[in-house]
Amino acid sequence: MFYQKKFVGVCVIKSYQVRHIQVNPGLVLSPMSGVTTRPFRRLIKELNPGAVGLVVSEFVSVEGMTRGSQRTLEMMKFSEEERPYCVQIFGYDVDRMRDAALMVQDIGADLVDINCGCPAPKVVKRGGGCELMRQPEHLQKIISEVKRSISIPLTIKIRAGWDEGSRNALEVAKMAEGEGVEALAIHGRTRSQLYRGEADWDLVQEIAERVSIPVLGSGDVVCRKTAEARLKGKVAGLFIGRASMMNPFVFTEILNDEPSRLKGNHALMLDVLFRYCELLREDFQESSCGGKFKQLASQMCRGAPWRKQLLQLNALKDHEALLLAVREGRWRPAALETEEAETVDVSCDMFSA
Ligand SMILES: Cc1cc2nc3c(=O)[nH]c(=O)nc-3n(C[C@H](O)[C@H](O)[C@H](O)COP(=O)(O)O)c2cc1C
Repeated sequence: MFYQKKFVGVCVIKSYQVRHIQVNPGLVLSPMSGVTTRPFRRLIKELNPGAVGLVVSEFVSVEGMTRGSQRTLEMMKFSEEERPYCVQIFGYDVDRMRDAALMVQDIGADLVDINCGCPAPKVVKRGGGCELMRQPEHLQKIISEVKRSISIPLTIKIRAGWDEGSRNALEVAKMAEGEGVEALAIHGRTRSQLYRGEADWDLVQEIAERVSIPVLGSGDVVCRKTAEARLKGKVAGLFIGRASMMNPFVFTEILNDEPSRLKGNHALMLDVLFRYCELLREDFQESSCGGKFKQLASQMCRGAPWRKQLLQLNALKDHEALLLAVREGRWRPAALETEEAETVDVSCDMFSA
């Protein structure tokens, strides 16, 4: 493992290497269930040329994969331009985890990642996600079996621990390194915290000091300022999740220290949304596109006067018709929409509640 440093402005944006895979820059599109589908990942790669070092799929159930669920298998689909590409799997059963990791390898992904951080009850009740941090011996068995079976690099994503009384991220990181995991990401909150409070980046830095594999941090990176504050010491790179929905240009803006492109630029918002419609249609049936479109639009278009109306529509073709009306200057607020739309800045402190 070695680090390169890319000097941009006054800050150092690092890159890192996992075996033969260069993650350059060390800015990673964080896995988000229901969000980081192929259309979203492609959109983010297109909008940030050269600024996204790695993209990760949404988490994929090893139960669904190994039972042959077509819908689950489709979640792994990717395009060549996405490389390097990582598929994240979740589950509990050692044999299914191994078989699923082999399937990830077989489809040609560059990396496989094990989810050890998901807090969702339906996942942890079945032993997956953050529950694996409560059962480190079982996690060790999974890692050891997966490592023994695959030839592509294995990474893991963990939380600080289950709760305040069991913050075992360091122990899990050391165990994982010992078993041959080649990089790990830490979301510095416990399972009990969910998304409340602040992510503990001191912990990320401490773990980066104490193991020799690349350690990435996750949590509340939303702009250049927050990136600089977190990319300290031996931390190899940053996972960026929710901010990519609020501001899909966030990777470029962090890398190049640029101001927000979208802020007040409704024409650009429309371009992004029209492109997202095209990408969604390539992968999903028309009936599922509208919901996915709204997920991005609701986050990205805060402050736009037509946002509320857009979110009241369900079909993608209706979304497009409204966007077209806006683009052509034909859009008028509906009677119910005359009150001022909520105004939220797409800048730095969007998560500093
Ligand atoms: C809607 C949503 C879905 C998520 N799904 C996953 C997932 O599938 N796998 C995972 O490891 N983390 C998942 N996360 C956690 C994020 O990857 C990330 O660690 C967390 O949101 C903190 O980073 P952020 O502040 O940059 O969003 C999800 C987060 C959100 C908001």
